[in-house]
Amino acid sequence: MPKNTTQFVCAECGYVSLKWMGRCPGCGKYNTLAEEPVSPAPNKAARPALSSRALPLSQVSYEKYERVPSGIEEFDVVLGGGIVRGSLVLVGGDPGVGKSTLLTQVAANLSETHRVLYLSAEESCSQVKLRCERLHLNSDGLLLLSETDLDSAEEEIFKAEYVIVDSVQAIYTSALSSAAGSVGQVRECASRLMRIAKSRGITFFIVGHVTKEGAIAGPKVLEHIMDTVLYFEGERTENFKILRAVKNRFGSVQEIGVFEMTDEGLIGVSDYSGLFLSDLRGEAAGAAVTPSETGNRCMTVEIQTLMAKTVYGLPRRMSLGIDLNRLIVLIAVLEKRCGLPLGTQDVYLNAMGGIRLNEPSADLAVCAALASAEKMIPIDKYTALFGEVGLTGEVRAVNYAEKRVNECVKMGFRRVILPAKNAATCKKFSEKIALVPVSYLSQMIKALF
Ligand SMILES: Nc1ncnc2c1ncn2[C@@H]1O[C@H](COP(=O)(O)OP(=O)(O)OP(=O)(O)O)[C@@H](O)[C@H]1O
Ligand SMILES: [Mg+2]
Repeated sequence: MPKNTTQFVCAECGYVSLKWMGRCPGCGKYNTLAEEPVSPAPNKAARPALSSRALPLSQVSYEKYERVPSGIEEFDVVLGGGIVRGSLVLVGGDPGVGKSTLLTQVAANLSETHRVLYLSAEESCSQVKLRCERLHLNSDGLLLLSETDLDSAEEEIFKAEYVIVDSVQAIYTSALSSAAGSVGQVRECASRLMRIAKSRGITFFIVGHVTKEGAIAGPKVLEHIMDTVLYFEGERTENFKILRAVKNRFGSVQEIGVFEMTDEGLIGVSDYSGLFLSDLRGEAAGAAVTPSETGNRCMTVEIQTLMAKTVYGLPRRMSLGIDLNRLIVLIAVLEKRCGLPLGTQDVYLNAMGGIRLNEPSADLAVCAALASAEKMIPIDKYTALFGEVGLTGEVRAVNYAEKRVNECVKMGFRRVILPAKNAATCKKFSEKIALVPVSYLSQMIKALF
């Protein structure tokens, strides 16, 4: 029987099958199996006869991580204090969000003192040069290479200290015959880069595109290989972008970096207070402010809602910045526990400035904004709210309460509505700001309207 030269690998879970199947037995997804050549088994004879030996921890030698500043403070913060030499950093994000811009800036800054290679597989050298000129970067020493074949680029990569690969979906290696961007190619190229990074101490910044579902394209396999995985997010139309670490072997994943896209490129925003508040706060009904803990930073974010009478039978719910399911649950809680008639209303929700709020502490502000929109009564400009809302209509305690109240004080709020269980720890602020503890959603509504 002839030997199999190809196999079918699931793009979602990496399941390997010898024949094509419509549904992957590994993860149950449809149409995810793609053909790939079988990589030859490692040559046993070529392996050294010596087996590996374990060492006691006390005898393990190590070098302290050397942190190199990238020249962009916000970027360093997200990396955990600077670039670690020999690490692999994956920067993922939607098309056009500014990945190439950010990394070009980093490359130009590093090229002043280091040998930096910008391997552009998506754009020509002249496009990169045009961008550098548009951003007024001092990048005379930056090495450019427009190449999609990783094997041909390898020689140049070996000579550099820092390499930017833009993007991992556009490069390929001739070891596999599948097209660039396929699961096998992405995985093979990434692990090739990892081997180079670890054996030669070269630092890589790799751009990865995001799939429709929001994961970095290709399988999760890519994230395992990387030392640090960053997501660059923000609506394409918004000027503010947020860089978030989702994995970091050399630092916390709690950090975020806020950037503003300007003609001069991405500029780190260190004073982000007020960024996520609108100018007309307190004038229109349907808006509420919550102090949100995003990364290690607390910032006040305005949540805006709009209600319109449902024209077609089923009411529409749309949410930007907050999980849609969460919104639907909160609407149901408001309807059942507070008697607000929302079942005949279309509801639209938006968190200002394109920020994404993932924590439940925004619940209370969402409910307040919805109630305000329903009653057509604006919420006082100087009131902020936070707290998690349970299905029974209770308001539950959240973490970092003191930090949140402190941020409200700093931002000039005069009243904060918070979970009763959090009120005790925040007593010390009571001279600077009025604390209104609530245990039930109905109490919040009574306090506001
Ligand atoms: N001439 C310009 N002036 C101002 N801003 C610009 C200009 N050209 C591009 N931009 C901004 O840069 C953004 C594109 O940046 P960049 O090419 O870094 O994105 P990217 O994430 O690398 O995209 P891709 O996924 O296509 O590689 C645009 O969305 C736009 O906001
Ligand atoms: Mg790009």
